[in-house]
Amino acid sequence: STVIVENVDENKVYRHTADLSMEPGSTEKLVESSLEAARDELERGLGTLLDQPVTVRATSGGDIPDGSVIVGTPDSSPAVAQFVPAGDLASVGDEGYVVRSVSKGRSNVTVIAGNTELGALYGTFAFLRLIQTQRPVQNLNISESPKIKRRVLNNWDTERLYAGNNATGTGGLNGENGQIFDFAATGASAGRNLPVILDRYIVAARAMASVGVNGITINNVNADNAYLTTRNIAQEAALADALRPYGIKLAVSIRYTAPTDSRFAPDTLTNSQLDPYSPAFRGWWTRKAQQIQASIPDFMGFTVKANSEGQPGPQDFGYDHGDGANGIAAAVAPLGMTIFWRTFVYNAEVDNDRLKRAYLEFGYIDDEPQPDGTTGRIADNVFLQTKNGPLDFQAREPFHPMFGRMENTNQAIELQITQEYTGQNKMLTYLAPMWEEVLKSDTYATDTDGKLLKNRLVGNIVDGTAQHHPDTAIVGVANLGNAENLTGHHFSQANLFAFGRQAWDWTLKSEDIAKDWTRMTWSNDGHVVSTIVKMMMGSREALVSYQTPLGIGHQFTGNHYGPNPAEWTTRDDWSPVYYNKADSAGLGFDRSPTGSNLAAQYFPTLERQYGNIDTVPENLMMWFHHVPWDHTMKSGRTFWDELVYRYQMGVQYVTWMREAWDSLQPHIDARRFGEVRAKLATHEVDAGTWRDTSVNYWKEFSGRDIPVDGGPLS
Ligand code: GCU
Repeated sequence: STVIVENVDENKVYRHTADLSMEPGSTEKLVESSLEAARDELERGLGTLLDQPVTVRATSGGDIPDGSVIVGTPDSSPAVAQFVPAGDLASVGDEGYVVRSVSKGRSNVTVIAGNTELGALYGTFAFLRLIQTQRPVQNLNISESPKIKRRVLNNWDTERLYAGNNATGTGGLNGENGQIFDFAATGASAGRNLPVILDRYIVAARAMASVGVNGITINNVNADNAYLTTRNIAQEAALADALRPYGIKLAVSIRYTAPTDSRFAPDTLTNSQLDPYSPAFRGWWTRKAQQIQASIPDFMGFTVKANSEGQPGPQDFGYDHGDGANGIAAAVAPLGMTIFWRTFVYNAEVDNDRLKRAYLEFGYIDDEPQPDGTTGRIADNVFLQTKNGPLDFQAREPFHPMFGRMENTNQAIELQITQEYTGQNKMLTYLAPMWEEVLKSDTYATDTDGKLLKNRLVGNIVDGTAQHHPDTAIVGVANLGNAENLTGHHFSQANLFAFGRQAWDWTLKSEDIAKDWTRMTWSNDGHVVSTIVKMMMGSREALVSYQTPLGIGHQFTGNHYGPNPAEWTTRDDWSPVYYNKADSAGLGFDRSPTGSNLAAQYFPTLERQYGNIDTVPENLMMWFHHVPWDHTMKSGRTFWDELVYRYQMGVQYVTWMREAWDSLQPHIDARRFGEVRAKLATHEVDAGTWRDTSVNYWKEFSGRDIPVDGGPLS
């Protein structure tokens, strides 16, 4: 086959640092532009998938060989301009693409077109995906564009990273710390640290671009001001240069009090100058943002965790979250930058129920009438970044009540790809069904007259169609590290893949995404695909069952992997007993009208449904109710019997996954087969520990025997 890429735009600047270099001996390479990336992907991808050499041509003039692939924009390529009507391209916007089969003379040609080079690159990956999943590519007429504008990873570089290159997944080998991006200048990394570009950055960039991720906040939300120092900014600029052809923009997490850090001397402020309305405070952030923009012109902005888990914030200086977010936002707005202000706050003084606190701290700001006649105080270049659920990335939570309730504010949803509470790098847990569940949850949001909105799923809130927000964002806390497979567990790659696909189009089915990933990662053999997809699709529900069934919250040890339902910390809202409320009457946290009434933060339909033990979905029962041990469940079992049954079913599913995987041995390469097999063995044992620890602990309160049909407890 022939790949035709014409007139790569020489004037478009992709690089802003002087010399950019790859590590010695690298196998990846730096590309100069998105079209060059597209050309390379086609050359490499088609060459490997079709097992034949690919000819690359720089013109569509003259005879075009049958089966050619032309990729470009109407500006770069006369053929693209000829074959794809401007109107068709207009409808796919800046990042969308058209992939079309056309005839030219006697040749059948595939045209991959975007309005921008990035759109053409996305189309290229989509085309390669069709081939890799063995879909027909003869009569293509595809038009695609992302539903959400900003599809961003948050890379918590120093926390909850289970993708390092040593056995624990936290790093350690070669003196590296497990992080994907290496900023350190000492130890074994010296000389290989940024600005040197390592192979794995390019591999990660290609992976991200292949699923449409277009931004990354590179450091932990518990932020280190080092990322704002001149030295680091130079390193970040090199990274930004390397990622730019792949359409990935950088952002940095900051501390609210960064202006007081002596590392920025002589340009520092005192605590008394941290008034978000003051020219001193805003001026500092403007200068810092200008400094960054001088070397990273397309820098996205800042992610802020404020007044949460010990991080400083505006409340320390007598202001609220709206004041703080707007202060920094105003400082960077003239530079076109955005603030991602996190809503993961749970100040104990606000309410006894941790889960109610975020809405209580942000909701009123959204309702405030403004001098200009509008409503809502949060500035337009701010996203409030809200976790999918009101607690903290548990395997099942109801969606966060702020979705739908903040109609005057840009809201980004934050999902966790790294498996902090979902098995880390030891358990095979495919998370896309969970995200699908959240994104397709009905908020029952109403307009100001109390009329139900037409488009009101969580996904509609996030993509802006529910409440008419032009700027939209979805964020995934990333699981990338320096492990050879980038994610630690081979199956954790599926979560990154799925995040990107769902960020692009949240209406996709998680099962279809699993099918694509399985075909691209393991095999196109029908039996292998159906077995692996089945394993994946049930894995999250199994995890819920053996860890936290029927809506019980956080029951983890301090490292968030194993079980510890007892009290283990003096901070009450971190302790499992705060969530389970186990006693002789029953189990679960009463958030109905007889309890904390979190239910009332939801729109009326859900408020009623969640608030009543007879109508609450059973999988959220203990989230909203203290359930009596003898409560009759839909299955006819008592609550106690059902609870034990769920734990047991979860473990049995893991046993089945292990056996199913074993049966695939003839079809899977030996190395990856063995690595996954070993993980599944650990997974099964640890799932059993969850069941046994939990059930034995609950038994002390229920005073009931373990039911015989609950199966054997080891
Ligand atoms: C969780 C997680 C922390 C993280 C926090 C956050 O609590 O354990 O590591 O900092 O979430 O999202 O801010």
